[in-house]
Order: sequence, then C-alpha cells, then structure tokens
Amino acid sequence: TELAKIRNFSIVAHIDHGKSTLADRLIQLTSTVADRDMKEQLLDSMDIERERGITIKANTVRLEYTAKDGETYILNLIDTPGHVDFAYEVSRSMRAVEGSLLVVDASQGVEAQTLANVYQAMEADHEIVPVLNKVDLPAAEPARVREQIEDVIGIDASDAVEISAKTGIGVPDVLEAIVTRLPAPKGERDAPLKAMLVDSWYDAYLGVVVLVRVIDGVLKKGDKIKMMATGGLYPVERVGVFRPGMQPINELGPGEMGFLTASIKQVRDTRVGDTITTEKKGTDKPLPGFKPSQPVVFCGLFPVDSAEFEDLRDAIEKLSLNDASFSSEMETSAALGFGFRCGFLGLLHLEVIRDRLEREYGIDLITTAPSVIYHVYLRDGTMLEMHNPADMPDVVKVDRVEEPRIKATILVPDEFLGDVLKLCQDRRGMQLDLTYVGTRAMVVYDLPLSEVVFDFYDRLKSVSKGYASFDYEMIGYAEDQLVKMQVLVNEEPVDALSIMVHRSRAEARGRVMCEKLKELIPQHLFKIPIQAAIGGRVIARETISALRKDVTAKCYGGDATRKRKLLDKQKAGKKKMRQFGRVEIPQEAFINALKMD
Ligand code: GTP
Repeated sequence: TELAKIRNFSIVAHIDHGKSTLADRLIQLTSTVADRDMKEQLLDSMDIERERGITIKANTVRLEYTAKDGETYILNLIDTPGHVDFAYEVSRSMRAVEGSLLVVDASQGVEAQTLANVYQAMEADHEIVPVLNKVDLPAAEPARVREQIEDVIGIDASDAVEISAKTGIGVPDVLEAIVTRLPAPKGERDAPLKAMLVDSWYDAYLGVVVLVRVIDGVLKKGDKIKMMATGGLYPVERVGVFRPGMQPINELGPGEMGFLTASIKQVRDTRVGDTITTEKKGTDKPLPGFKPSQPVVFCGLFPVDSAEFEDLRDAIEKLSLNDASFSSEMETSAALGFGFRCGFLGLLHLEVIRDRLEREYGIDLITTAPSVIYHVYLRDGTMLEMHNPADMPDVVKVDRVEEPRIKATILVPDEFLGDVLKLCQDRRGMQLDLTYVGTRAMVVYDLPLSEVVFDFYDRLKSVSKGYASFDYEMIGYAEDQLVKMQVLVNEEPVDALSIMVHRSRAEARGRVMCEKLKELIPQHLFKIPIQAAIGGRVIARETISALRKDVTAKCYGGDATRKRKLLDKQKAGKKKMRQFGRVEIPQEAFINALKMD
C-alpha cells in the first residue's frame, strides 16, 4: 500500500472512558466485521480481561475506510493496555504509530491515566485528536472538558470531536479526522528491512505470533529474519493482518502493521521493542530505546496442598512461555515447603497470574507478602538485590538498605483531598506538588513503591469513594531505615510472613499483624502465642486461647445429620489450611494479615 493511504493510530484514555466501545464502533462502521459476528469488546480477547474489563495485551486491527475524498485508506488501530502495570508496553506500542485519539469521558473529564497516557503519546511525537465521548449522558459537559484539556494537557481542543461511542453519534467524524488530521507514516521500500516487534503471544495452532510494524523495507514469507536484541534467526512462515481475525497477505511494506509467524517456540524468545531485520543485507541500526520489561514486584506462590507442586510447576511453565515479563524460580520455605518465587510488573499482573493459576489450572495457592527489590549494601562493599525478605542478611553485616520509590500522580475531588493526603502521608510519602485541575486537586507524591504495591490503590478508592484516579512511574532508589520483621506462630518463625518495614512503623505494623492473625487462625486444643520480632527482639504479641469444647458438643448429642454436617464443614474448611508445626493456618491469613487498614 502507498504510504499516503495509511494511517496508524492508538486510542488513549483513562479506564472506562470508552476506548473499547469506540474501537468496536470503528470496526463496525468500516464493516471489517459482519454485524452478526460483532460481539462487544472485540479486541479484549482473553476471558479474564473481559471479566475484569481491562485490556492487557496490545492488540491491533486493520480497517479499510473510504473517506469523503473518495480514496480508500488503510487504518491500523493498535489497542494499548490501560493499566499502569503495563506502562512499558504502552510506551512501545505508542512508538509503533504516528497518532492518537485522546478519548475523554465528557461527564468525567481528564483523569490521572488520561494524563499519563497522553504524555506518552506526546513523547512518541504523536499528532493527537481529542475525542469527547459519552455526550449522550445528561451529565456530559463537553465545553468544560474541552477547556480542561487545553488547560491541563496544553493541546488545542477546539477541533475536538464530540461523540457517543454507545449510540454511534459522531463516530463517522472520528474516521474522517483520522484520515485528515493524522499524518501518514514515513519509510523506504528499498531500504533494508527494519520492523518493530510490538507484541507477541502464543497461539495454539500457529505457535508464537509476532505483531510487527514495518518501518523500512518489506517483510515477506520465506525471509530469514533476525531479532537484533536476542540474535535469534527464523524463517518467516506467514505474514498477515488482523481484520480482526487473522488474514494472510503476501507482504507487509513500509508503514504497515501486521503479524508474522516463524516457528518461534516461546514468547520468551521475542522481546517487545526489539528490532527485526533480515539475516542477509539487514540493517545494522536497531530502533532506539529498547529495554526488556523488568518485574518489580515479587511474591512466593505455594500450593495449599503440597501434592500439587508438580501441577503448579507445569502451570507456571506454561504461563511463562506466554509472558516474558513474568519470572519464576523455585523456592523452598521452611513453613510452606516447595513453591516458586515469582516476579511481576505490578500488583494487577500478580493478581491476573494468580487468578489464572487458580481458575484455569485449579490450583489452590498461598501467596506470600508481595515484596519489591531492595538494594542491600553490605559492610564489605557489595550490593545484594533482594527479592525476598527471607534473604535479608544478618543486620551486623548490613551497611544500609535502599528501596525503590515512585512518583505518584493522583486526581481527586476537593472534598476527599484531606483523606488522600493523610493516606499518602501514612505511607511515608513526600508531597511534591499540589495544583488544581478545574475543581479537582492534582497531588504529586514521592512514595516508597513497597507502600503502594499492597493495598494502596484499594485504600485510595475507598477514601475517595471511587473518585480518585491514580498513576505512577518509578523514579529510583533511596535509603531508609528498613528492617526485617518476622512473625512467630507458636514460637516458630513463619518465613512467608516476613516483611521489610520502616523502623518507625515496625511496632504498629507488628501489633496489627498479630491481632489479625489472632482472628484468622482458629483455636486449637492448646494455647498459641503469636509474636512479631525484629532480630531477636519481640515487638508485639498476642495469644490465641486454647479450645476447650468439642465443636459438636453444642448439638446436644441429638441430631446426627446436623453433627455430620458440622464435621464435614470442618473438613472442607481444613482443605484450605496449611500445617505449621502443630498449628493450622488458613490460606487467606497470609494475605489478610498484611493488609493495613
Ligand atoms: P478499559 O478497556 O477498561 O480501559 O475501558 P474502556 O476505556 O475501553 O471503556 P469501555 O469501552 O469498556 O467503556 C466503559 C463503559 O462506558 C462501558 O460500560 C460502556 O458501555 C460505557 N460507554 C462507552 N461509551 C459510552 C457512551 O458514549 N455513552 C455512554 N452512556 N456510555 C458509554
């Protein structure tokens, strides 16, 4: 296709502002899909994504649109993930296209992720077309939101397209704006092949499918390609486009987007952002700025039933084949036996993987406290990258500990500002900025990542009644007074409950954990002390009193079925327990004990 007839774009929006609905409409209007095949949110392919209403993997679709000028254009829409955990994937996919539709819900206005995503689009030098969505809602205030976009983001919103993705009003204008306002891609057909690896995933029939954007040259079936970062060489088997189903074509020329398959065995062999060229006469200049995405949050995953260890191993292996940003290595815990230490891009990523292990593979899991990567500097001058508090060296060997910090941007209506500030303060935050976006406050905080990974987002939603929006980026490491706190149940340390805490918060944290565990661990026939300790020093303590009576005693010996039921119920409850020495700890205790309300 001629470059002048191609437009490549993404849609950036805050979650729920209507990105997927608009994408569906665009597909429908260009009759890329027959009406009867149209199902909602076509681009979100995985079930779990659909259930949670989030888009995880970048996805793409090729639309053919005959514009008012009578010409037919190829429009490649790339769908980007909407969550902070996948920020790196968003920034890569942005670099694969030339323009963005900035979708803002006209009844809500600009939110934290609107800003984060539009800044990424601007960094990628995109032409941006503002789209005000949901104008069918009585609460829509397009004029106000237009002003907000100009004030806060600093782009001209006078030509913003007003639409309702739901009813379809205004959507044809969006197609016209894509053609007239977004630039055509640039590239040279005669140059050596240079293509960006935008995304990849495993397909049961085709093996690894690679989504590419060709910058220069031509990609054809039979080419022998080279991945520049990994050095891998592969013969191309298929080249095609998404409409949105996969459709083979002969070649992808400059400016085009599509897929290739090439007997690549695992998704791990493909790196998002890598440059693809040909083995012979290839380019020697890779695209700039490639970096593999790195896990930032780690936790242990252990089967509740140790007999399921092998099943867990298989399941983790399968999931890793398809997700290069998920890491795992075997771990043994004195308390939990054999399991895996796994690394994730963030908490949502962790939850998605855990859910899939439990639901798709049917494995009950114990998840240990999520931890960030600490930099532990030892007195002998070496530095240890610590992923697991259980690995914390003896304090006498430690010179200092540094932890990762983030810059968090929060938008919140004024009435909840006080509570939000308090929450950030409680999480050891340092305020960097406080300004106003219309009637809402925009606060910027420097916060320790460890204080955010666990339940910060839930707490933020709860203190703001769901109105606050949040986005963050990593800013680096800083030293602080960090110590390892252990929990002892019946005098035995439970390593899965070890956490790193700030010295000044240790007592309070320890007290809350002991109190929670007291509630979460059922009574036994003997007294169970629960203690929190730093080094050898106990800083908090609770005791679970001994259980005296048989649970069936209160059935007055009469009703046998009732007694049976009660015993069965006890047995079922037991399945989700884990034995520690003489004490049984329920599965949920591991996570719930760590929540800080
Ligand atoms: P994520 O995929 O989770 O990032 O969300 P999204 O931005 O793709 O939003 P989505 O398209 O899923 O829309 C969110 C909700 O808003 C859904 O319930 C839609 O039905 C609704 N919605 C989208 N567009 C409109 C609109 O124009 N008017 C109205 N009233 N509702 C809309």
